[in-house]
Amino acid sequence: MLLSSFSHSFLPPLNAASLERRTRWRRQRKRGRQPPPVPETPSDPRAASQEELMAKVEGSSENIVQDGAQPVKPRILLAATGSVASIKFESLCRSFSEWAEVRAVATKSSLYFLDKASLPRDVILYTDDDEWSSWKKIGDGVLHIELRKWADIMVIAPLSANTLAKIAGGLCDNLLTCIVRAWDYSKPLYVAPAMNTFMWHNPFTKRHLEVISELGIVLIPPITKRLACGDYGNGAMAEPSMIYNTVRLSYKPSTVNGSG
Ligand SMILES: Cc1cc2nc3c(=O)[nH]c(=O)nc-3n(C[C@H](O)[C@H](O)[C@H](O)COP(=O)(O)O)c2cc1C
Repeated sequence: MLLSSFSHSFLPPLNAASLERRTRWRRQRKRGRQPPPVPETPSDPRAASQEELMAKVEGSSENIVQDGAQPVKPRILLAATGSVASIKFESLCRSFSEWAEVRAVATKSSLYFLDKASLPRDVILYTDDDEWSSWKKIGDGVLHIELRKWADIMVIAPLSANTLAKIAGGLCDNLLTCIVRAWDYSKPLYVAPAMNTFMWHNPFTKRHLEVISELGIVLIPPITKRLACGDYGNGAMAEPSMIYNTVRLSYKPSTVNGSG
């Protein structure tokens, strides 16, 4: 199995507590989901008012949440950080958006690698700027909280050494880390680290992975190959198809929809 092939022993076990968290998440999800009042085109300075945004997202969710036999599309929040592997983020977005409703979050550094224009049209990309442009006054929705409520599943791929360290330390100084800091750990959160092999084998990495494992964050381990910098070793992000399959295969739509 993919996850058990990882050389370190800090993978989160699917124990009774994890199962209970997942069950709680599914029960909450069956009761109804609140969409985020966030702009459709987040970087657009002409962003709509809170009321307009709310109406727009509520309208769009009607197409997704359906009664009875119709399957509910999972809402997946994909996040990219400042690893060269962010060049594969577009491919990840494309795979996931064939199955799920996808929103994306990018750190400032990731924007050096990912091509915003290449993302699927229906995937909204949020950056740190949107956190502030979407908030005008007391009472407005706060983007990181709204996205945290919106998402059923979060996947950070690639996860940089820096963001890994920040998550492990509880830091929250950008949109992505604020979402994680506010995350409801009864909902799945996957990370696919990508870093130079020296960083991967640094003792900090092991420590940080142990901490996030305790939170219930699921590791999709990196792979060994010739890295972008020319070094050979472990640390390259798992292939997008592997990330997609790991998340998809762990998802239990029949339980979520209450149809068995
Ligand atoms: C060309 C280049 C490639 C980089 N690749 C990686 C990488 O693969 N993994 C990583 O952890 N950091 C990498 N870094 C360093 C991160 O971009 C840096 O730590 C940054 O602060 C990460 O910010 P973020 O975690 O907020 O996205 C790279 C930096 C540069 C200049």
